[in-house]
Amino acid sequence: MKTLAVVGLQWGDEGKGKIVDYLSRKHDVIVRCQGGSNAGHTVVIDAEKYALHLVPSGILTPGKMNVIANGVVIDPVMLVKEIEDLRSRGVTVSDNLLISDRAHVVFNYHRALDQAQEAGRSGEQKIGTTGRGIGPAYADKYSRSGFRMGDLLGGDFYQSVLKPRIVEANRLLKEYFAAPEVPVDETIAEVRNAAEALRANVTDTAAALRGFLRAGRKVLFEGAQGALLDIDYGTYPYVTSSNTTSAGIPTGTGLPPQVVGKVLGVLKAYTTRVGTGPFPTELTDATGELLRERGGEYGATTGRPRRCGWFDLVAARQGVAINGCTSIALTKLDVLDGFDRIRICVAYELDGRKVEHMPAGARDLGRVKPVYEEVAGWKGSAAQARHFEDLPKKAQSYVARIEKLVGCPITMVSVGRERTAIITRSA
Ligand code: GDP
Ligand code: IMO
Ligand code: MG
Repeated sequence: MKTLAVVGLQWGDEGKGKIVDYLSRKHDVIVRCQGGSNAGHTVVIDAEKYALHLVPSGILTPGKMNVIANGVVIDPVMLVKEIEDLRSRGVTVSDNLLISDRAHVVFNYHRALDQAQEAGRSGEQKIGTTGRGIGPAYADKYSRSGFRMGDLLGGDFYQSVLKPRIVEANRLLKEYFAAPEVPVDETIAEVRNAAEALRANVTDTAAALRGFLRAGRKVLFEGAQGALLDIDYGTYPYVTSSNTTSAGIPTGTGLPPQVVGKVLGVLKAYTTRVGTGPFPTELTDATGELLRERGGEYGATTGRPRRCGWFDLVAARQGVAINGCTSIALTKLDVLDGFDRIRICVAYELDGRKVEHMPAGARDLGRVKPVYEEVAGWKGSAAQARHFEDLPKKAQSYVARIEKLVGCPITMVSVGRERTAIITRSA
């Protein structure tokens, strides 16, 4: 099948949006399969910056079909706002966007519960969620008390089904969390309005996707978050609430597992993380600060400063293995321009033993010490290069070293925010 999955291999924000935007021109259909508006995918085209949360990044390429599939949790009010923002900037969003009738809905009470839960946690228990209601919405899905996009379009849903659920959520907010309740009638009105605005786009996206594939269309799956935020294989409990790896694509789209063939993993040339949780190569010194400032490492969704550190091979290998990556896009190489020495964490040490796999427990991962290999930095600029050979020699060596260590071909190297700042290499 003519498909490509693009997935994050670290703790998110690897530059998936930029890579998906670049590859959209070679595909016909771009599909989000999991996550929700916790995602923030940045695309920069001719100095115009777009931050996409729910809408696939393919929307910025005219003539492409974009699909929000069933595995995504959709906040309809935020989605309508995102669509309106895009339209106000001249981006066409009409019948080029399909929304699954089976996708679960994020309501404002999910956001309120997410924020109240976080506020109630202290110290090590804090996850640092985006506050977008993701955990509570997926929890409702799996406890079978959620609602789906299709439900919002039915006749008596609002008064007879949604209203009692809001009242129930309010009881939890008030009595358990001592948090403000959400207004019942206003919530119903805003969701109803949003649902009406989206009605024409809501459909059986699995059937539509089968049709596209039958017709020979090229389909690109746009991952959100990253492998280390995966609910099963991430750094639990400091993770998000969905399967962020390629394994999430079949259940998140309704397509069979064979649909996943080529998997392009997106890796940043160093590591970042937003939110709390273990981060073995984190730099809390001036070097970390330099990476943050040079890389513009501030969250696209919440604006929070991202924690920064050196490249972590142990983590990257785990991402490659779990996703079944067939190639890699290495991003933000330009951010390392001008560093004298660059470090690569090649293993961990735990209680005096060398560890080459990520420990399952966050406690253990929090205790590991990175084992570093140091490589020479480069003078000159990777940012200007458009061919691999144009990169400073030491930058080429850094890419080659990572490729060798990770054991997967690096077929793309990104050297700037702009759509055009990219180097493609054949495997
Ligand atoms: P995503 O969530 O994986 O799509 O990544 P984000 O958009 O949240 O974060 C990546 C940030 O890095 C954004 O601000 C991008 O504009 C920027 N970016 C992407 N690729 C590159 C690159 O190669 N070089 C630089 N300097 N910035 C990049
Ligand atoms: P993209 O798609 C980076 C992180 C949050 C928090 C944890 C749980 O832009 O790469 P959640 O709100 O999902 O319950 O938060 O996951 N997180 C992300 N970090 N990039 C993202 O998405 C993220 N989505 C969630 O910071 O640590
Ligand atoms: Mg992001």
